Amino acid sequence: MFSRITGIGSFLPGEAVSNDDLARRGIETSDQWISSRTGIRFRHLAENGETSSDLALEASRRALAGAGLAASDLDLIIVATSTPDYIFPSTACLLQSKLGNHGATAFDVQAVCSGFVYALTIADKFIRSGSHRRALVVGSEVFSRILDWSDRATCVLFGDGAGAVVVEASEQPGILATALHADGAHHGILSVPGSVCGGQVTGDPFLRMDGQAVFKFAVRVLAEVAEECCRAAGISPADIDWLIPHQANIRILEATAKRMKLPMDKVIVTVDRHGNTSAASVPLALDEAVRDRRIQAGQKILLEGVGGGFTWGAVLIEL
Ligand code: UT7
Repeated sequence: MFSRITGIGSFLPGEAVSNDDLARRGIETSDQWISSRTGIRFRHLAENGETSSDLALEASRRALAGAGLAASDLDLIIVATSTPDYIFPSTACLLQSKLGNHGATAFDVQAVCSGFVYALTIADKFIRSGSHRRALVVGSEVFSRILDWSDRATCVLFGDGAGAVVVEASEQPGILATALHADGAHHGILSVPGSVCGGQVTGDPFLRMDGQAVFKFAVRVLAEVAEECCRAAGISPADIDWLIPHQANIRILEATAKRMKLPMDKVIVTVDRHGNTSAASVPLALDEAVRDRRIQAGQKILLEGVGGGFTWGAVLIEL
């Protein structure tokens, strides 16, 4: 028994917000600085009160429609998010309620920007074990809520959005290989080091990052885990039709492609229009490239993520 993606959907809230819009809102920055260092030109930001489960709901409805399934057909719902609606219940349970599904296994995965590849790998293992047959896997984030808008080195980098896939049991392999890693020794270079205690926020509830340390770490592990995942599937990186890395920074994408000796025209890029949407970035990019028909049935697509924890991983798929 294998698992296979049978439906894909995504959702971006509101209008695109440009770099110049951010400067006009009083952030001491410029389109020139942001676009030359990161490739980011636009991002979408959720309205006040619009939550991860709201964005997840729209993306999930589109993925279910693509798969030709009703929410009641699902027996597993996994949401990857670092910006959950509540401390508990999980965003997956809130999404389940909004979808009108009763009884499916539902839980969140917290692996920051690797969250979607973690969640997809978990769904693959549930399905291959025979315990579940129809999973909804979602990456959904409202990172705008955890940004310090007075810290120009971080607030210009992120955006909000959601992407979802339906994964079903199949006799034909669709998820060909997976590889996941973490090393908590690096927790300090990217974190939101706050918590709630006794009704008060303790520590620092905003995203903090050592950008240069993250940059170097990301480039190294994205190339390594891509090669590991290809080896596990018995192919070489040159056999990949499309690479969909976590969309953090165009320079990280370019450096990863270079290390893997892949031309940039095999790399799906959305960071210019979405910014870094953490766990949502990979399924958002996958959905875009499937909808515009760059990705075709039978092609090999390598999805990969890297993020706080540190966590990193890759999933090789065929649609
Ligand atoms: O999912 C993983 C998420 N993380 C990432 O993708 C981050 C990876 N790292 C990066 O992409 C880069 O490190 C950044 C884009 C975050 C920063 O680029 P950098 O080349 O490492 O810049 P820097 O932090 O060394 O800052 C250089 C200068 C500083 O000014 P001074 O001290 O040289 O006068 C900053 O104050 O740029 C200044 N600066 C800005 N200027 C205009 C920092 N942020 C901004 C800004 N606009 N938004």
